[in-house]
Amino acid sequence: MSAIPVITIDGPSASGKGTVAERVARAMGFHFLDSGALYRLTALSAMKSGVAFTDEAAVANLAAALPARFDAGRVWLAGEDVTDAIRAEAVGEGASKVAALPAVRAALLERQRAYRQLPGLVADGRDMGTVIFPDAGTKVFLTASAEARAERRYKQLIEKGNSASLSALVADMQARDARDTARAVAPLRPAPDALLLDTTHLGIEAAVQAVLKYHRKRQGN
Ligand code: DC
Repeated sequence: MSAIPVITIDGPSASGKGTVAERVARAMGFHFLDSGALYRLTALSAMKSGVAFTDEAAVANLAAALPARFDAGRVWLAGEDVTDAIRAEAVGEGASKVAALPAVRAALLERQRAYRQLPGLVADGRDMGTVIFPDAGTKVFLTASAEARAERRYKQLIEKGNSASLSALVADMQARDARDTARAVAPLRPAPDALLLDTTHLGIEAAVQAVLKYHRKRQGN
């Protein structure tokens, strides 16, 4: 087992895990891996180079050579700031498709493990505790009802000045969950040794505190 501590935070989209993971990383002074961003960058890269999401070998090649850089909260692809571009709905859809390709997941495996640097790492994703860092000392699985997650996404969209339909978002959330949970490679599921944290009625700050408390307890073991 590596001596470098890892806290994995997995869960479905809009479960709050991105924000929780980032705040836990800041509180601990740890590095932070947003693994979803790597799948989003891969999808964006494919779109830019005209590669079909179904062309597994070509998409895997792009993933293996991704000229990506994360710096002070910004995301760069080959010198271009794509922080906002990778959050676009079409890129999210593409990410979900390329994430189902085994060769793409394999291409991104070592790249993700390379983020394990001292003094420690908080890794946010779907398979951090099950596939990428199975030996992590602290594993958390964040959940929330599809309705609660759709409502959060709805508020985000409205705040950004977009229009949105709550019922369409609930359906979209359920469809994406089904795809992420049912896929053959690295399906979304909690590691057997993960702490399950339901954030349906839990604020972000309370979730952060619960993760930090659990991590301290795990370290004491
Ligand atoms: O968390 P996110 O919405 O940025 O993730 C984008 C897509 O990538 C989503 O469909 C799930 C997928 N993903 C994955 O399969 N494995 C990960 N470790 C992270 C994200």
